[in-house]
Amino acid sequence: MNKIEILLTRLTLEEKIGMIHGAGIFETAGVPRLGIPPLKFSDGPMGVRNEFMRDRWVPCGKNDAITYLPSGGALAATWNVELAYKQGQVLGAEARGRGKDVILGPGINIKRTPLCGRNFEYMSEDPHLIAQITAPLIRGIQESDVAACVKHFAVNNQETKRMTIDVKIDEKALREIYLPGFEAAVKEGKTHTVMCAYNKFRGHYAGHSTELLDRILRDEWGFEGAVVSDWGAVHDTEEAAKAGMDIEMSYTSDFDDYYFAKPLLAAVCDGRVSEADIDKKVLNVLRLMEKLNMFSGNRKRGCYNIPEHRKAAYNVAAESIILLKNEGNLLPLNAEKLKKLLIVGDNAARFHAEIGGSAELKVLYEIHPLLGISGRLGGNCEVTYARGYAAETYELFDPNTHDISPELNNVIIYPPKPDEDLREEAIKLAGEHENVIFIGGLNHLQDRECFDREDMILPYRQDELIERLLAVNPNMIIVMHAGSPVDMSRWANRAKAIMWSYYAGCEGGHALADVLLGGLNPSGHLPETFAVKLTDYAAHSIGEFPGGEDGKVRYLEGDKVGYRHFDAADIEPLFPFGHGLSYTQFELSEFKVYKYDIFGSHISCKVENIGNCDGKVTVQLYVGENLRVFKKITLSYGKQETLKFTLTPAHFAHHDGEKWVAPLGKHEIRIGFSSRDIRLKGTVNYE
Ligand code: BGC
Repeated sequence: MNKIEILLTRLTLEEKIGMIHGAGIFETAGVPRLGIPPLKFSDGPMGVRNEFMRDRWVPCGKNDAITYLPSGGALAATWNVELAYKQGQVLGAEARGRGKDVILGPGINIKRTPLCGRNFEYMSEDPHLIAQITAPLIRGIQESDVAACVKHFAVNNQETKRMTIDVKIDEKALREIYLPGFEAAVKEGKTHTVMCAYNKFRGHYAGHSTELLDRILRDEWGFEGAVVSDWGAVHDTEEAAKAGMDIEMSYTSDFDDYYFAKPLLAAVCDGRVSEADIDKKVLNVLRLMEKLNMFSGNRKRGCYNIPEHRKAAYNVAAESIILLKNEGNLLPLNAEKLKKLLIVGDNAARFHAEIGGSAELKVLYEIHPLLGISGRLGGNCEVTYARGYAAETYELFDPNTHDISPELNNVIIYPPKPDEDLREEAIKLAGEHENVIFIGGLNHLQDRECFDREDMILPYRQDELIERLLAVNPNMIIVMHAGSPVDMSRWANRAKAIMWSYYAGCEGGHALADVLLGGLNPSGHLPETFAVKLTDYAAHSIGEFPGGEDGKVRYLEGDKVGYRHFDAADIEPLFPFGHGLSYTQFELSEFKVYKYDIFGSHISCKVENIGNCDGKVTVQLYVGENLRVFKKITLSYGKQETLKFTLTPAHFAHHDGEKWVAPLGKHEIRIGFSSRDIRLKGTVNYE
């Protein structure tokens, strides 16, 4: 018997049960007499959430402000696996620095609809991009003796009725689209924990699903860590206990009444659940603790809110910003020559970190765009700010007098005030300024947990304002700042320059300023398709969102999610998946299949920087309709590089509803700079 197994034999049933359910809203019970500590959790995923009292959602921390990292969407927009790893290192170090054992992230659910309120936490519509970003992110996190907790397993793709909605999905779509990110988290990232989703999957709660938790996660993928329930995702003692659920967490403070507390003890005592089932769970927890060095004297210490972490946050933000359009090379602005600049829009001066649901953070600072731009321009330029439209304002509850719930009730929201004066003021100023930047989009009153948006229309009548501003100043630069796509169709054709920023963390305003002012060459690419209108997205075109009266949502679009649907249905997106411009230009040439061997088919192509500044380029390789490989490199102007890609059988495979098959024969290869900007085509023979 090893140490862990011996420890198990010394535990009483009550002690075991204490280790597998919440004894606090973010911790389990330890067993002090045996030196077993409690397991401490924290949200996730853009930083370590503030401290709460053990048994109430009342913030109680004093020194708990952390580094606010770029959101999942921003990280995916970098298309940079090295940065994902670095962001993971920071998140892990900060979680450990705050004394946590498990950080509740990353959130990697597929962006099936642009309306999902939690899209800002999630990464992409594409399983390959998610997998590539997730695995290094998790490895980075776990280097600090902290467990990642990849969430929400699985098919948690909407907030509407999230606690009950039953997802009906075919096997092909499940395997090809919705699971690869989780599979990579387990197999490549070696995540120590997985969080089950709230929703039902094929008739069963995800947290009770033997299909998800036992057959797929453990038997097929070989997961050896612990499964944690989403907070309140367990609904039945026996069902969850018999499935692979290990730790039940919830948001209420009746800890002894959790399904895995007294009711589980009773179920074991009267033989409805076997003690062997409990032992499996406790072993998973003990093994997890051992992996995290919780029993050893030399566990890593971590640290938080240090200058290096802010630098890393900046580096990710810097590569997350996407230049969508730049007619006549309007951007970058010349900081040296700029004497007067007008900035319009609520998001120029709004802080985003503090709200949004469980991903909210207590931060020491957040550089918003107005501060970032003003700070960079310095005293030689007169920066004028006009809010332009009114959005809600909010105030955090006083923690001493209010109890808060995790569902965004921790804020008092004040509705927007009448804003005609703001609008007229902005339009007048825009006519008087040569250089104008509009910074609008969404905020966390739209991009938030528990709610989906009703449509893609920009809130606060921004469309109307943008149109009027463009009428008086056609060169106005537009920055959209949001966690999910918005309808830009009313003005996108008229605007000359459009920049996109996801929630990009505490240094987002600096990064945006640097990209706008030319200190940085943008290199972000869309991790999702931006459509002209909502019904262009598959789920909406077939009316399968947010599900029917019967409480079921049918993913009838199958694997045609994101660009796969736009391609199959031949719909022109506003900006396609993978799109992102640079201040320089790149060219691709010389597609070659130069070798076939036991490792796969080896392909090469040449990429050249033909513009006039250094930049980063992301070369995307699609097999048939699917993104399969991408590479991001730095290339100085005038330079070229040969890129090599190896395609293995997995790259040619699809799921036939029962198993993966990689058809022999010719496969079409497309290489380019977005799913719609394909520069090279060829075929490889898979034998
Ligand atoms: C969210 C999880 C989060 C948990 C703990 C739930 O409402 O869905 O993502 O980690 O709360 O705050």
